[in-house]
Amino acid sequence: MALISLLVLCLLVSISSAEISNKVGINYGQLGNNLPLPSKSVELIKSLKAKRVKIYDANPEILKALKNTDLQVSIMVPNELISNISSNQTLADQWVQTNVVPFYPDTLIRYLLVGNEILSNPDQETWFNLVPAMRLIKHSLKTHGILKVKVGTTSAMSVLESSFPPSNGTFRSDISDRVIKPMLHFLNRTKSFFFLDAYPYFPWSTDPTNINLDYALLEAKKITVTDPVTGLTYTNLFDQMVDAVIFAMKRLGYPDIRIWIAETGWPSAGDVTEIGANIYNAATYNRNIVKKFTTKPPVGTPARPGSVLPSFIFALFNENQKTGPGTERNFGLLYPNGTNVYEIDLSGKTPESEYKALPPPENNEPYKGKIWCVVAKEANRSALGSALSYACSQGNKTCDPLQPGKPCFKPDSILWHASYAFSSYWAQFRKSGGTCYFNGLATQTTKDPSYGHCRFPSVTL
Ligand SMILES: *[C@@H]1O[C@H](CO)[C@@H](O)[C@H](O)[C@H]1NC(C)=O
Ligand SMILES: *[C@@H]1O[C@H](CO)[C@@H](O)[C@H](O)[C@H]1NC(C)=O
Ligand SMILES: *[C@@H]1O[C@H](CO)[C@@H](O)[C@H](O)[C@H]1NC(C)=O
Ligand SMILES: *[C@@H]1O[C@H](CO)[C@@H](O)[C@H](O)[C@H]1NC(C)=O
Ligand SMILES: *[C@@H]1O[C@H](CO)[C@@H](O)[C@H](O)[C@H]1NC(C)=O
Ligand SMILES: *[C@@H]1O[C@H](CO)[C@@H](O)[C@H](O)[C@H]1NC(C)=O
Ligand SMILES: *[C@@H]1O[C@H](CO)[C@@H](O)[C@H](O)[C@H]1NC(C)=O
Repeated sequence: MALISLLVLCLLVSISSAEISNKVGINYGQLGNNLPLPSKSVELIKSLKAKRVKIYDANPEILKALKNTDLQVSIMVPNELISNISSNQTLADQWVQTNVVPFYPDTLIRYLLVGNEILSNPDQETWFNLVPAMRLIKHSLKTHGILKVKVGTTSAMSVLESSFPPSNGTFRSDISDRVIKPMLHFLNRTKSFFFLDAYPYFPWSTDPTNINLDYALLEAKKITVTDPVTGLTYTNLFDQMVDAVIFAMKRLGYPDIRIWIAETGWPSAGDVTEIGANIYNAATYNRNIVKKFTTKPPVGTPARPGSVLPSFIFALFNENQKTGPGTERNFGLLYPNGTNVYEIDLSGKTPESEYKALPPPENNEPYKGKIWCVVAKEANRSALGSALSYACSQGNKTCDPLQPGKPCFKPDSILWHASYAFSSYWAQFRKSGGTCYFNGLATQTTKDPSYGHCRFPSVTL
């Protein structure tokens, strides 16, 4: 009898751990005006051998396209709705009724994330509405008899005020008591996950002299970092980041909440000023991290050896409408036309030797020459006038050479003048945080645009 119940128990344990498999998923972001239709995108997701997909809303076309596939799906309540939902059960019920019920269970919706990196968003009011909204959404799911869907929210590493050494991991004091504690209580009670966005690319690229690139790419064979407090030894930056979160949760009394890697990845291209964003590094990081995620038995991290780390790689496509630096638009495994940026198999089963050689990296060191900021090829010409006025209104004498009779007046075109103004603005303000972006109208170039007697101001790193 005891033996039989032990067997049953084993069976149950193996079923429940099979439920959280180590299969890798993909983030399907849609911030592009040139992306394939959902039905085509779902085919592409399958061709990458992803087993799960996360979207940043509850797009009905996508949820329809995912119907009757074996892809597990994570959907999201948009940030803008959190505050209203947090105080209104009717609204939470309506959201679930509209966005989950019509698709469940034929679409394998399994995770429902309330907002995206809310705690890194400056709108503080939403921070305090986050956990109440999660509770009401969970309650609505229960009301509808939908018990298989875990509720969570995604967090960036910036929820920590300290992450090194990992044992010193500590949540920011402005959210620790008022948001994180109740959130951890909720996640623990509902057996959900801490959904973490973790990119070794960012800490490495801001401090490439002190952090070894191979350590960030999971390529280091000899470099290790030992945490002096725990004695745990780290062989890569990713593990360090995950364990910092684990120790931060432990500090608040929740040592057992599972981590889900909601986003990780590496950009395959970026601005001239952005170091290490290339196909070689992106392919290396993503292949290595997939290998880590899919290894059996699971490797886990030094703080939780052997634990499964379920995951979503960022991202399916390069998304041309993401704002910010160039890397933001180049995290995709695929170009918008559906071809691979580099070969990758998210099942982790393709051996390294079967991949074609990668183009050697050319920007693993900071760029040494001069850089200018000019109008981008695809810039919307009608929007240039106001960007030009803005650039010229900043600083001292930014656009003086553009005045009639001055060396940069001719050719008297808005395109030319805007390029001059962007370069002049950027040269003056880069040190204080000014960027060469102008809502996508500007791009960096290493080709000197100076012409005749007009010298364009430049930037050196
Ligand atoms: C939130 O509720 C207020 C008051 O009912 C409404 O005016 C507002 O449009 C709602 N916001 C959103 C994003 O739905
Ligand atoms: C709650 O949401 C419902 C549905 O949108 C709306 O009709 C109602 O006015 C809201 N209640 C409050 C107190 O805002
Ligand atoms: C540990 O974290 C605290 C902030 O939470 C920080 O002040 C301290 O410098 C960190 N310790 C080390 C050794 O980095
Ligand atoms: C977390 O959940 C576990 C299992 O349900 C429970 O035993 C534990 O007391 C919970 N921890 C806290 C701090 O509530
Ligand atoms: C797809 O797009 C990439 C990047 O723009 C380009 O290099 C490639 O040639 C395109 N492939 C096809 C089949 O159009
Ligand atoms: C181009 O810019 C103008 C002025 O800002 C704007 O009204 C228009 O919608 C933009 N066109 C596109 C295609 O973005
Ligand atoms: C412009 O010049 C004045 C006087 O030289 C100086 O005080 C001010 O800081 C300058 N402003 C900028 C934005 O460089």
